[in-house]
Amino acid sequence: MRVEPVSTHIEPLETKHHAGMLEIVEQLPEWFDETARTRSVPVDIRHQMGFVAVREQKVIGFITLYVAEGRMHIGWLAVERQMHGRGIGSRLLKAAESEAHRMGIGELATYTLGESVAYQPYESTRRFYWKHGFKVYKRSRTDNPGCPEEIWISKRVKS
Ligand SMILES: CC(C)(COP(=O)(O)OP(=O)(O)OC[C@H]1O[C@@H](n2cnc3c(N)ncnc32)[C@H](O)[C@@H]1OP(=O)(O)O)[C@@H](O)C(=O)NCCC(=O)NCCS
Repeated sequence: MRVEPVSTHIEPLETKHHAGMLEIVEQLPEWFDETARTRSVPVDIRHQMGFVAVREQKVIGFITLYVAEGRMHIGWLAVERQMHGRGIGSRLLKAAESEAHRMGIGELATYTLGESVAYQPYESTRRFYWKHGFKVYKRSRTDNPGCPEEIWISKRVKS
């Protein structure tokens, strides 16, 4: 019997993917604190559009999206830990860009922890965004001890 290589495909986010998405965030407490894991992500994924990466019927990554102030915003983005660094996050980002372009939106944006906070997990996250051409358009100080500086970043969506 011929064995097909295992492939990962990207598909639109649907309700059937929610449990798999929540399993991923449970595995990544360095990026998703308790409030994110138990409240923010479970609620947001029910109301945001997005895409999932699926491998052998299992969700191994996702990106959620919402439109605000003329930009397509990334709500949540995560890839299963063992699959980091294999191009899955980049494929999810590409799907988001294509969707923004299809909807006539010229900018993809998100916010993350600012560089003034030395925290290695988010240094990797920022590296991912810089590599994909995101630039800071706004900085803000917050009273959240877990995230004292937010940076708002975006990139132009290519036609
Ligand atoms: C950030 C994230 C979505 C990127 O997805 P990915 O599939 O690992 O990324 P890709 O393989 O497409 O791109 C690799 C690039 O991402 C960056 N990167 C970020 N985290 C990485 C990791 N843990 N392992 C490898 N590369 C990582 C690097 O810049 C790397 O480029 P390089 O190989 O030239 O150094 C993923 O690592 C992740 O889920 N991280 C934890 C959650 C998170 O940070 N979410 C976003 C903010 S809520």
